[in-house]
Amino acid sequence: TAAVAPGGSPYEITAETGIRVPPVGAAAGVAARTTAAYLAAVLRPATGFELPVDSRSGDVELRLRPGLKKAVGPEGYELTSGGDGVVISAARPAGLFHGVQTLRQLLPPQVEADTPQDGPWPVAGGRITDEPRFAYRSAMLDVARHFFTVEQVKRYVDQLALYKYNTLHLHLTDDQGWRLAIDSWPNLAEYGGSTQVGGGPGGYYTKDDYREIVAYAASRHMTVVPEVDMPGHTNAALASYAELNCDGVAPPLYTGTSVGFSSLCVPKEVTYDFVDDVVRELAELTPGPYIHIGGDEAHSTPHDEYVAFMERAQAIVGAYGKTVVGWHQLAGAHPVEGAVAQYWGTTGGEQEVIDAAKAGTPLVLSPANRTYLDMKYHEGTPLGLSWAGYVEVRQSYDWDPGAYMRGGVPESAILGVEAPLWSETISTSDHIEFMAFPRAAGAAELGWSPAAKLGWDGYRDRLAAQGPRWEAMGIDFYRSTQVPWD
Ligand code: ACM
Repeated sequence: TAAVAPGGSPYEITAETGIRVPPVGAAAGVAARTTAAYLAAVLRPATGFELPVDSRSGDVELRLRPGLKKAVGPEGYELTSGGDGVVISAARPAGLFHGVQTLRQLLPPQVEADTPQDGPWPVAGGRITDEPRFAYRSAMLDVARHFFTVEQVKRYVDQLALYKYNTLHLHLTDDQGWRLAIDSWPNLAEYGGSTQVGGGPGGYYTKDDYREIVAYAASRHMTVVPEVDMPGHTNAALASYAELNCDGVAPPLYTGTSVGFSSLCVPKEVTYDFVDDVVRELAELTPGPYIHIGGDEAHSTPHDEYVAFMERAQAIVGAYGKTVVGWHQLAGAHPVEGAVAQYWGTTGGEQEVIDAAKAGTPLVLSPANRTYLDMKYHEGTPLGLSWAGYVEVRQSYDWDPGAYMRGGVPESAILGVEAPLWSETISTSDHIEFMAFPRAAGAAELGWSPAAKLGWDGYRDRLAAQGPRWEAMGIDFYRSTQVPWD
């Protein structure tokens, strides 16, 4: 909910500018300092300025004011800019971090470059009061179909942080690969992670790698939601352990792109030993509240078995103190109290999802024909799929998450918005960036801004202004002809 009061003189960042933070002893002062150091690190390469962080002086001030919570909530902030400096105030560290992203957006785009650029570096004068519409603003990366390294994930996290995303959903397992080391079932990663779509070498995260991703995301105020997809999408696990198969025979590893052919063996007790061990080890690595258990496209699992499986899998997640997220097929089983359903349909009209939402199951919206970043923009897009249609920039942006579901689902049932990037055709950071930008910026606006501020006509101009910023960041984005690029 951004209220912007423009006016007054701008502040200019110069070689004399410092960043002021609360004293070290102050509550949450450490988090403010971390964000100040992050801001300095973002601005230093292009400006060439030192931007020292200090608790006694500095024209750019990060101020924690717990009393602001009523006005801006846990993630909002106030930013005031004038001739004397810039003050970002927030009730919580996350708000300071989001305010810093707005400060970046107020600076000329070349500030994002990693080599020295010509200034000046003005910040327009004015006052902004801003907080998000939805609490869950997520991007998903499928690291199972193609594996992405820790460094590649960090790069994407940094790009998402600029748009105030607060959640990173990692699709860690699928038919083509198991990407996280599980100590009690070591073959999952060592064998099940040894290839990927197309037959390349794949890979997996050690627990230390994974902790590094989680910590890096946390430093950008993003919570990782890990997904282990079950009972379908499990060929990599089934190939790794013969006993997980109903017939006791391990299938070969799979490097194609079909879906719906694999299933855990629902009647076998060892299946739940497996799920328990995996969820326990994953919960130990997960500071955030959520564990995603998939549940989509279980076409090889009889429906009664699917319902029985999801019942037990949800109970296991609960036993380790975590909240379940499942793809919206969970609504056709029995979602436990508090479980979140992630909607990936294209109509908003599935009755069982509508009923579940009205009965208290919160929804994360990722309609495939709007937010799926792996859909081609148009027929000629060299990457991506098209089963949900072509998703041009306007198509991806021009909808309202609060009014999307049919059947009287109220906005209060919507926890947030996610932009998933499936990786059947995506194998490099350049690929990620070409498919995510510009569309990830639009999903972020839908998650953050109030309904009254949405609208294609204004958005395409705001979006156009991002082009030079992405160029400075080295992001090779899709230059849609729908957007009047600057
Ligand atoms: C999905 O796209 N199968 C969730």
